Amino acid sequence: MSRKWEMGFQVVSMVIGCVLTLYAHSSYQHNPGSNGCMLKAFGGNAFVCVCNSTYCDKVENTDPQKASKGGYSMYQSDITGKRLLHSYGSASKQACGLEVLVNLNNTFQSIIGFGGAFTDAAGINIQSLSASTQKNLLASYFSTEGIEYTLGRIPMASCDFSMHPYSYDDNSGDFNLTKFSLTQEDKKFKIPIIQAVMRTYKRNLTLFASPWSAPAWMKTNKNMTGKGTLVGEPGGPYFKTWAMYFVKFLKAYAKEGIPIWGVTGQNEPTDGFITNFSFQAMGWTPEMQRDFIVKDLGPALQQNSLGHVKIMILDDSRLQLPYWAEQVFRSEEARKYVSGVAVHWYQDFITPAVALSSTHKKFPEKFILATEACSGAMPWNIPKVSLGSWKRGEDYAHDIIQDLNNFVSGWTDWNIALNMEGGPNWVKNFVDSPVIVNAKSDEFYKQPMFYALGHFSKFILPMSKRVELVPNQNLPKDMYIVGFQRPDKAIACILLNR
Ligand SMILES: *[C@@H]1O[C@H](CO)[C@@H](O)[C@H](O)[C@H]1NC(C)=O
Ligand SMILES: *[C@@H]1O[C@H](CO)[C@@H](O)[C@H](O)[C@H]1NC(C)=O
Ligand SMILES: *[C@@H]1O[C@H](CO)[C@@H](O)[C@H](O)[C@H]1NC(C)=O
Ligand SMILES: *[C@@H]1O[C@H](CO)[C@@H](O)[C@H](O)[C@H]1NC(C)=O
Ligand SMILES: *[C@@H]1O[C@H](CO)[C@@H](O)[C@H](O)[C@H]1NC(C)=O
Ligand SMILES: *[C@@H]1O[C@H](CO)[C@@H](O)[C@H](O)[C@H]1NC(C)=O
Repeated sequence: MSRKWEMGFQVVSMVIGCVLTLYAHSSYQHNPGSNGCMLKAFGGNAFVCVCNSTYCDKVENTDPQKASKGGYSMYQSDITGKRLLHSYGSASKQACGLEVLVNLNNTFQSIIGFGGAFTDAAGINIQSLSASTQKNLLASYFSTEGIEYTLGRIPMASCDFSMHPYSYDDNSGDFNLTKFSLTQEDKKFKIPIIQAVMRTYKRNLTLFASPWSAPAWMKTNKNMTGKGTLVGEPGGPYFKTWAMYFVKFLKAYAKEGIPIWGVTGQNEPTDGFITNFSFQAMGWTPEMQRDFIVKDLGPALQQNSLGHVKIMILDDSRLQLPYWAEQVFRSEEARKYVSGVAVHWYQDFITPAVALSSTHKKFPEKFILATEACSGAMPWNIPKVSLGSWKRGEDYAHDIIQDLNNFVSGWTDWNIALNMEGGPNWVKNFVDSPVIVNAKSDEFYKQPMFYALGHFSKFILPMSKRVELVPNQNLPKDMYIVGFQRPDKAIACILLNR
């Protein structure tokens, strides 16, 4: 039986009516392109789906009638080239041994969303394409014919995926931020794309923002890069101004018609303690972050009618959990202001996921959200862009299922589009992306990572609740499952077979 599973498929999403009998799919055909994907091979089983100005593959939607009353809708992706290939089935079909009970009586965390980041680099790459190719790219991510992302991250000012370091107020001594202003980068590369997504597609976008560094003049090292913190102490003038910087940013985006749901206190707060750190960073200990939120950021948001904006702590590897959360939530006041804990995936390979569930157990009223992930980030990940890598798709699916099974409420990819080199990035910190843009040929490549994310983003709607899954036998090695009940009452199960 397990053998049939292994041969059957790699990543499966099912949307069904009620109790599910997962059945083994024994046919293993080389089936490239059958879902409308224009496959292009970059060696072996490394396929991407090519989209251009006139053509792009679409995901077939489920007819709720056909997927109810014991029937289901199944979407499969596999190493041979299936990409979210859709079929209907009936749960009464011959079962092949492994059965999974979906226990709706036992539910867990609810879902915020799945998505990626609107960086300068993503905007630059998207805009390097013709208007109709851009449309196909955004539709791939956000439309009902695509994978229907609902979550977006916005860097506050510059990060490494910008063309140069900049802030919203580089005027030394401007403590009242009278010269604060959004930059050309916001106006060209972020705002128009976010606005287009918001006005064009059906699902709502939940947006959160993260700063990489304060303006250089506010920092101990007078530089946005390298080792440095804000000058002084929480409650002091630099920290007050930094809280006001968040307020001004949130108001400036709201003025563009872009309401922001949440902020993280700092992208990767420990980077700013690394000598000569190569790109924008700013150091925070959990105690500093706690005191800043209690004395400065929390009150500033409240006093400016922004008390509804969710504050997230950490925004860094789960390696630091539950310690970081314990230090912050030691303060009752901090607990009042903070809604969630944000995590990055980069050290997941050395940190068991129990770090997440133990944080949840200690602070069950705080959500946990995965706020950044990408392949190709480690020095030994060569090439940075690995076109068609099935392994990188599996790595995404594995990390997402593991996170979801340990109380994480959503998952945010890094840049939604990069170029063939994995940039642009002003310090050449190139990485991979689910969508790689080839501006020269006015086309883009949807990688296995794109479809892996789609298995979750399209089917696990916001507000879905994770449900207990009880298999009737141990899952075969390298097989992973997770299940949800959606707001429309449908059950969505995702199965990964590595
Ligand atoms: C786009 O791709 C389709 C499918 O491969 C192809 O038929 C068409 O000629 C391409 N269009 C352009 C403008 O290259
Ligand atoms: C769920 O709860 C109902 C009502 O208490 C009970 O009848 C049913 O057996 C329970 N189902 C499972 C799978 O435990
Ligand atoms: C900032 O504004 C306050 C209140 O308007 C004012 O008293 C203060 O002098 C200003 N500070 C600076 C540095 O301009
Ligand atoms: C989007 O948000 C609006 C306002 O909160 C709500 O009325 C609408 O139902 C939402 N749409 C979807 C598809 O969730
Ligand atoms: C910031 O640090 C970088 C790297 O050391 C250096 O190249 C740059 O000149 C510094 N910028 C300022 C404004 O001092
Ligand atoms: C940091 O940069 C300075 C100036 O380039 C150099 O002298 C120093 O050795 C570097 N330190 C480390 C730890 O790399």
